[in-house]
Amino acid sequence: MYIITQLILAPIRNLIAHILKLRKFNAIERLGADPLGSAAGRPREFFLQLAQEAARASFPEIDNVEKTYGESIDKCWLDEVAFHTQVVVKDAELNYQHGRLLYSVFSYYLKNRGSSNDCVYVFETGTARGFSAVCMSKALRDKNVQGVITTVDILPHDVPMFWNCVDDLDGRKSRREILNPWKEYLSSVIFVQQETLSAVSSLAFPRINFAFLDASHTFEDVLAEFSFVQKHQKKGDMIVFDDVTPAHFPGVVSAVEEISRQANYKVDLIEAGQDRGYAIATRLME
Ligand SMILES: C[S@@+](CC[C@H](N)C(=O)[O-])C[C@H]1O[C@@H](n2cnc3c(N)ncnc32)[C@H](O)[C@@H]1O
Repeated sequence: MYIITQLILAPIRNLIAHILKLRKFNAIERLGADPLGSAAGRPREFFLQLAQEAARASFPEIDNVEKTYGESIDKCWLDEVAFHTQVVVKDAELNYQHGRLLYSVFSYYLKNRGSSNDCVYVFETGTARGFSAVCMSKALRDKNVQGVITTVDILPHDVPMFWNCVDDLDGRKSRREILNPWKEYLSSVIFVQQETLSAVSSLAFPRINFAFLDASHTFEDVLAEFSFVQKHQKKGDMIVFDDVTPAHFPGVVSAVEEISRQANYKVDLIEAGQDRGYAIATRLME
């Protein structure tokens, strides 16, 4: 009987394994060993200078967000995480103010949510090097709230590669290794390597109290991610959209406009200069 059951189950198991393998996007296989490029040839001073410039810049719009929500992240802590996860080689100016915004808005949410003992579920699309996930995890810790942050990216968590950042000077590292100095923040984070469209059709959540959408910036993908998130939200739950910036990401802007036209979310737009915009959506009804 056991052998017959195994014979019947084997092809089903193989089929499931095959589907899971298809679904799991392997960035290394598809994009090569270092999908983000390497910054290994740059001197350390190059990164220190970039970091100093980024840390010195002022962002009055984000100061206002912190005033409005009554919460602000420790700047030294933020700058140190950003040095390893946001200070990268790129043409555009560095801007990691979404870390301040996320911390502020999420901390406000945690402080004001009604049922204070329930676990809080966060869904993030677009992990990259883990900066935004760690900032949200800090809010959970600082507010002493039990929560789980599920973050999805096509990039792997445990495969050594170059990340186009200062850590490249030590050779290839996994994301887990880059984030090791902040490992106490990782116990509440689940890293999922998947395309978001496949993630939203396979992940299960009891609720998504808070979401940060920052992966693929196309109209269709942002709406698909939103549509998944909204099915799991209740009154007062929130979604933050990054890169609501007409000049660079018209797809994100159109998706957010479409969402604003629906009556079930209040959408606040935050413009932080010409090059970076955000949207904060709050669920109005159950
Ligand atoms: C702007 S970065 C995210 C930045 C990150 N939230 C942070 O604060 O550091 C976008 C990330 O989304 C990932 N990504 C892009 N399209 C994706 C898709 N369709 N599915 C999953 N991840 C995707 C990229 O690999 C990249 O790491």
